[in-house]
Amino acid sequence: MNGVPVAHSRTVLDRAVAESRAVAAFNVITLEHAEAIVAGAEKAGSPVILQLSENAIRFHAGPRAIAAAMVAVAQDASVDVVLHLDHITDPELALRTAELGFSSVMFDGAILPFDENVAETRRVAEWCHANDIWIEAELGEVGGKDGAHAPGVRTDPAEAAEFVAATGVDALAVAVGSSHAMTEKSAALDHELIGRLRASVGLPLVLHGSSGVPDHELAEAARSGMVKINIGTALNVAFTGAVRSRLDTDATLVDPRRYISPARDAMAEVVGHALKVLA
Ligand code: G3H
Ligand code: ZN
Repeated sequence: MNGVPVAHSRTVLDRAVAESRAVAAFNVITLEHAEAIVAGAEKAGSPVILQLSENAIRFHAGPRAIAAAMVAVAQDASVDVVLHLDHITDPELALRTAELGFSSVMFDGAILPFDENVAETRRVAEWCHANDIWIEAELGEVGGKDGAHAPGVRTDPAEAAEFVAATGVDALAVAVGSSHAMTEKSAALDHELIGRLRASVGLPLVLHGSSGVPDHELAEAARSGMVKINIGTALNVAFTGAVRSRLDTDATLVDPRRYISPARDAMAEVVGHALKVLA
């Protein structure tokens, strides 16, 4: 990719580990999500991760256009903006991380049996490390994704240690009480388990489903070893709420800029709030 170099995931996340803090990762669906996330991060003066999921890639019928837009947004930012592929279940797509201009990937083999998850994740991890890509993997479903709703699921610390040793990944997404796609902040995290996982895994941990986690719980999770905090749904709640209220108040409106602009501002506010909670 040409242009200003984009911050590398490893650099930003290693720095966060050294400073005992977490970096927030927000899901991008549209260009306006990326613009809003960077606007919120610039206002807060914080580094941030823009992540693109396999579901969002499917929505765009392929990764190239939206990924290129994210690269450009990251290059133009005045804070460090990391580009990450999220919840990638197709190994062939994971192997395109570098080509897309991204520096990290979450390979998601969580629904596979343990041995298959290890084998697939190790294969992707070997490629990642040969290509200067940081890799996150997952063990134990984070409830709620695509119907796999299982808020009771927890990652076992001994199994997690075995998994990271066998795969060579750089970080591990764990199930500790959060659940994907929650529209209210009512999840209760198992902080005692986070501490035990951090000790047994010895790598940065990643919290998924953070939209449903109350602010004080998020701050505590960051203190106890969660280094990457994934937030998606909260942006969409803000986006859609703003669009709905704009359209509800003006039935004559046709120019999309008139309702997407407040929606983008609403997402930037959510980003700014989350970054303040994690500061
Ligand atoms: O990987 C993405 C996140 O886990 C987002 O979860 O939409 O529930 O905040 P969320
Ligand atoms: Zn997730």
